[in-house]
Amino acid sequence: MTIPRLAAVKGILTSPEKGAVATMVPEDKPLFAAAKQALEGHAGDSLPLLGSEAFRGKDGESLVLFPRALKGRPLIVAGLGLKQSLSLERLRRSAALIARQASAFKQQSLSIQLPAKGLLDRLIPHSEEPSLGLAAGAVAEGAVLSVYAYDRYRSAPSPKKLSSITLLAENAADARAAGTAVALARVVIEGTWLARDLSNAPGNELFPESLAEAARQCGKRSGFSVKVFDRRRIERLKMGGLLGVAEGSARPPRFVILEYGRRRPGRKTVVLVGKGVTFDSGGISIKPSANMAEMKMDMAGAAAVLGTVQAVARLRLPVHLVGLIPATENLPGGRALKPGDILRHLNGRTSEIDNTDAEGRLILADALAYAGRYTPDAVIDLATLTGAVVVALGHHATGMFGNNPELMRRLKESGERTYERVWELPMFEEYASLIKSDIADAKNTGGRWAGAITAAMFLKNFVGHVPWVHLDIAGTAIMEEQLEYIPKGGSGVGVRLLVDMLRRWHDV
Ligand code: BES
Ligand code: MN
Ligand code: ZN
Repeated sequence: MTIPRLAAVKGILTSPEKGAVATMVPEDKPLFAAAKQALEGHAGDSLPLLGSEAFRGKDGESLVLFPRALKGRPLIVAGLGLKQSLSLERLRRSAALIARQASAFKQQSLSIQLPAKGLLDRLIPHSEEPSLGLAAGAVAEGAVLSVYAYDRYRSAPSPKKLSSITLLAENAADARAAGTAVALARVVIEGTWLARDLSNAPGNELFPESLAEAARQCGKRSGFSVKVFDRRRIERLKMGGLLGVAEGSARPPRFVILEYGRRRPGRKTVVLVGKGVTFDSGGISIKPSANMAEMKMDMAGAAAVLGTVQAVARLRLPVHLVGLIPATENLPGGRALKPGDILRHLNGRTSEIDNTDAEGRLILADALAYAGRYTPDAVIDLATLTGAVVVALGHHATGMFGNNPELMRRLKESGERTYERVWELPMFEEYASLIKSDIADAKNTGGRWAGAITAAMFLKNFVGHVPWVHLDIAGTAIMEEQLEYIPKGGSGVGVRLLVDMLRRWHDV
């Protein structure tokens, strides 16, 4: 489906002429009472359900009313919880609940009243951005991201979709501030949406060549350059990991380079690396068939990189941003990589294959080594790399590893703001012994324990001395159940996190 239109205007609950209207009500007694009174004034009705067992303004509550003044159109009321615990995430979830209710009532347009500024003053302490703008951005994100559906392959997608979301502000100045925030939110949402669509695309539609083509189209539309290396070029570069993994597939690999802006004094050069395994069967070390279909999303890292570069280019952020995507399938063809095989990577290091299902690190190794050519200020890789990180952190935090506390701190902060949270796991030197090989520089698995960490230790060997962070998004990019504004399937995780981090990284 297409992304709903987003706008911010000056208006009150009764100004919209069509569609559903919605408001958010805090739980605190006096604030609740005031909100109820104001609502009854707008509605031209008494609203006895407000304050009843049915609705007390608690976080997660919602109510759909049909007051006289709206002539049969729905008024959606969502709880905000207590003022003291109000957060951007609460606003996102509240807005998501509202948008879902509007969809359930088959509304094509929805107007959401922004919460009163008095509620927002402590939203993000010490933020340089106005709290109303932050709130408007969060409401827009929650509402729009919650209505995402991957319905390309439905012959009869439901005809009535929520296609327009408008935020209502008290006065013209607030509407302007909200409008600015909404414009930013829209670009970030589009990047997330793109990442979700690419993740959810089936493996027979999205394979290395078509992923590269999607990147090309995106670059053309959004103003960044795209270079695509074919197998011959990859061979000449001696990317043994990428070539090795691709051997089992009839489809050739691709190495995609996205580049926005250029190297300049006073500007950061940041390289993003995204794992682009368009389908991971495990190869010769084949996976069990249950849930193997999920492995069409093993390119979620690549999707996040593309979504981020698209957003950064459209926002014209002052950064030199490079995206590297090693793309291949991992299949057990007749020439496939086998346990015992040895590969030589771009930087000359060799890997002994212990398990062909640990393919992600093999292709990332080449890409990380390539990243060094840009002498970047930071390299950040995103990869659905290990089942072990899902065991450790579930679906609510991305595993973070790195060699630079300052860069990790920035990501941690952006993770809290965007709620795409990251959690650091250790890279103690002792773990390196787990991936020692008898005959090569390393082997590609580390045995039963600390699987997410040994994968990170493997990658570390290809980074050199640049500030580097590895984000293992296996749990957060592939959702088994939907959350408030994150659908089941591809979540698009990484885009909101990285755009926030890059927007804030302006000190030089
Ligand atoms: N793509 C998988 C990791 C994965 C698992 C992502 C579950 C999302 C959900 C990766 O290529 C893989 O197969 N990793 C193996 C490594 C093992 C063989 C050392 C794993 O985690 O089991
Ligand atoms: Mn695998
Ligand atoms: Zn994989």
